[in-house]
Formats: sequence, C-alpha cells, structure tokens
Amino acid sequence: MKRKVLSALLSVAMIATMLVGCGNSADSNAPAEAPAESEAPAEDAAPAEDAAESAAPAGEGGLIGVAMPTKDLQRWNQDGSNMEAQLKEAGYEVDLQYAANDIQTQVSQIENMISNGCKLLVIASIDGDSLGTVLAQAKEAGVPVIAYDRLIMNSDAVSYYATFDNYMVGTVQGEYIRDALDLENAEGPFNIELITGDPGDNNARFFFGGAMDVLQPYIDSGKLVVKSGQVSFEECATANWATEAAQSRFDAIIASNYSDGTTLHAVLASNDSTALGVANSLAANYTGEYPVLTGQDCDIASVKNMIAGKQSMSVFKDTRDLATQVVKMVDAIMKGGEAPVNDTESYDNGTGVIPSYLCEPVFADVNNYKELLIDSGYYTEADLQ
Ligand code: BGC
Repeated sequence: MKRKVLSALLSVAMIATMLVGCGNSADSNAPAEAPAESEAPAEDAAPAEDAAESAAPAGEGGLIGVAMPTKDLQRWNQDGSNMEAQLKEAGYEVDLQYAANDIQTQVSQIENMISNGCKLLVIASIDGDSLGTVLAQAKEAGVPVIAYDRLIMNSDAVSYYATFDNYMVGTVQGEYIRDALDLENAEGPFNIELITGDPGDNNARFFFGGAMDVLQPYIDSGKLVVKSGQVSFEECATANWATEAAQSRFDAIIASNYSDGTTLHAVLASNDSTALGVANSLAANYTGEYPVLTGQDCDIASVKNMIAGKQSMSVFKDTRDLATQVVKMVDAIMKGGEAPVNDTESYDNGTGVIPSYLCEPVFADVNNYKELLIDSGYYTEADLQ
C-alpha cells in the first residue's frame, strides 16, 4: 500500500516538470521518467539487499553512495528516490541505502560504500556526531562527502552541506503562530506547548531556535503561557522524531494541564511526525477548540489533517528541489570543480564552517496547499483523499 502510494507519488513527481531547483533555475538533470517501482523501497531492508536493488547497471560518471536514515518517515523515501533517479539521469551509478534509524547500520553501510569504490558520498545522518571515524576513512580514500539535509558534526571530511534553511523553517512556524493568534494585537494570554525533534539531529536546534526567536518575547511578556513549564530544547525534544514518543509526552501534558477545560491555543511542533503525535493525543484526550498546530514536511498524513482542520500548517520542503541541487553539487565535484553554494557562514560543524546550499522553505496551509502541492505535481488529489 505504502509502496503503491509512493510509486504513484513518484511517477507524478518525476513526470511533472521538476523545473525548479532551489534557486528556481531550470533543471537539466530532471529525469524523463519515473523510477521503477522496486526503487521506491517500502521498508528498511538489509544493506546488501538494498545495494543489489538499487545499483545501476551502467553509469559512466562513477558510483555515488547515498546514505539515508530511515524509510519510516515519508520524506526520506522521497529524498532517496529523487536522488537516485536524478543521479542516474545525470549518468551516475547509485548505491542507495537506508539504515532503519540505526547508527551502527549506517556506519557499516558507509564503510561498504567506501570499500565498494564509491567516488562520492551523500549522507543524511541519523546522528550527526557518530560518523567521525567512518568519514575519516572516506577522507583517507579521497572520497568527498556532501552532508544531505542534516549537518554531520565534528568531521573535517565533510566537503559540502545541502539543506533547506533550517532556521527559517523555525521562524516560519513561529510567525505562523504569532499571526494566527494575532499576538501583536490580541490581549491574551494564550496557552502554548512546544515540541521539537531528536537531539542528535543538528537541524532540530535550528528549527527550535528559529521558532523560539519569534515566540520567546511573547512568553517573556506573559502573552504566551507554557502551562507545562517545559520550554528548554531538552525538555521539548523527541527521540528519533518518533510520533509515539510525541504522543505520550502530549498525553501527559494534557492530563496535567488541559483536562479541566483549560484551552490550549497553540502547539509549536517542529515537524509532521511530532505534529501527528500531538494530533493523535488531542483526538484522544482533548475536547476543547483545536489549537493552532505547526508541522514540517507536508507528509500526506499531515496534509490530510490540515484539510480536516486538525493541523494548521506544515512547512513545505520540496525534496525534488533539494535532490536537484545536490545532483548539481555532485556533478561539479565529480568534474573536478567547486560545488555551487549560497551560504558560507551559518553551519559550523565543529571543524569550521561547511560551505552550504540552503533551499528556501515555504509554509503550506489549507489556503495554499493545492497550488503548492497539487499544481506542482508533488501530490495528486487522490493521494490526499
Ligand atoms: C528534517 C525534517 C524531518 C526530520 C525527521 C530533519 O532533519 O530536516 O524534514 O522532519 O528530520 O525526519
């Protein structure tokens, strides 16, 4: 079922024009057709299986290793499939691996990529701090590394970073709440709760930091009240970004603070998997008016919730655009040049600033989702029913 949906989704995504890169430039790397169904994996598989499934028969450009964290979240399936299709189209062979959110599996997969002769690695890390040793091997073997979406920390083997502007994701969420509650003008006070992502994911601090830079002044002035008292990143973090963990934390928050009819006006959730946990918890435990609820990724389940009035917005990060940008970077490096970047200040991984390409996120809500998600070919109407 999941495989079917993804396949349909990919067909649409690939057949559609795919004209925009992050910088809205024409995409000469766009694939002409959808990848075969077997290339859209449905479940985390053993490394060897994935390698056999995804290695391209030819590809003059050389073998590129693509390490993705997990198939559990919709977005990484799209990221992996888009990368694979676009790299193949550009003439490369691809070894695409998913690691079931297991750090050691990801390390082994990367070791295998290096020993199998990958010429370049594109890595979306599970834990940004756990790849130092294996990436030292990559450096030793002369294999450049592009950190994909999540920065890899404390390794001087990382050549480039490509992502969406993570801080902006947070500010977009914070501003959405600010505007929805009209915090500038309304008297309040309003009750808000906060939930963010995995502490091992460098992005999570950017998301949370960006949102809190917008919301903190209202918390300080008393216009926003966090009844649970949980406001630090650590208190609001969600291991592995897991929906179940988000849900059980919210069950406890609602039971202690909102089961007596107190209104919860807003929830800052850093992404859709945590927003889904919040929505599930609200559905089970909360009878008041639905709060403003943020998210990120425009996962199908969350867009459906948006249409049903159970989630207010999601930040749309078009994974086709990120893949297009990364393929341009790969191509430039493989041809002996420098990869295109647009940020040389924001992302220090502990060994220095990593030259980065930041794509721009936008918010989707019930008013603009059709234009953003359906007209652009990201989803079909049927995907969202
Ligand atoms: C990504 C988000 C995603 C989250 C959970 C983050 O690193 O940037 O798009 O929702 O991981 O997978």
